[in-house]
Amino acid sequence: MLKLLVCVSGGGTNLQAIIDSIADGRITNAKIVGVISNNPGVKSLERAENAGIPACVISPKDYKDRDAFNRAFLEKVKDTDPDLVVLAGFLVRIPEEFVKEYSNRIVNIHPSLIPSFCGVGYYGLRVHEKALERGVKITGATVHFVNEGMDEGPIIAQKAVEVRGGDTPEVLQRRVMEQAEWVILPKAIDDIANGRIRVTDGKVVRV
Ligand code: GAR
Repeated sequence: MLKLLVCVSGGGTNLQAIIDSIADGRITNAKIVGVISNNPGVKSLERAENAGIPACVISPKDYKDRDAFNRAFLEKVKDTDPDLVVLAGFLVRIPEEFVKEYSNRIVNIHPSLIPSFCGVGYYGLRVHEKALERGVKITGATVHFVNEGMDEGPIIAQKAVEVRGGDTPEVLQRRVMEQAEWVILPKAIDDIANGRIRVTDGKVVRV
């Protein structure tokens, strides 16, 4: 049984998609053992509580500097002892030490087709604002393993989503979530939990 630790910052719709997928069997062989939020009072925490999952807040604001936050974060991760860490809308730069120690055991969901609209400054609604500004006709979402680069790790899954005339960033964000994120993130977790993928030469291959 793969032990999942889910890290969140806000609404937690991707967390909910994972909870629901475990409940209805779209994800097998995995359970959520903890949730970490960097923000207090967010809907994600309510979702965790409703599902009976232990959750805690570790906010950079509560520590004297970034190193202290990083240490507290890593300590919590180790306490939870997860097999896989899922960054499900976790909008905080994660410690390098954590990435090294959990190589190929951290996945992230990003709301665009990487390598478009990703990297520094591209997160949440901003990604969709930039996509609309550029006038792309297709966007989507990507699940990838996390490495030292920003949105640069091996790609596990992607799904394209149509951009429609009159889309606002909020409307596009919702469509990308519904049609792509909430589908490919649970599927990627299920693939990992059931040993269907591995990383070879920096790329994800199916086994
Ligand atoms: C999601 O759209 C996720 O892809 C994005 O934040 C949102 C969180 O929503 N993540 C990033 O932009 C990471 N760079 P949620 O809290 O409802 O799951």
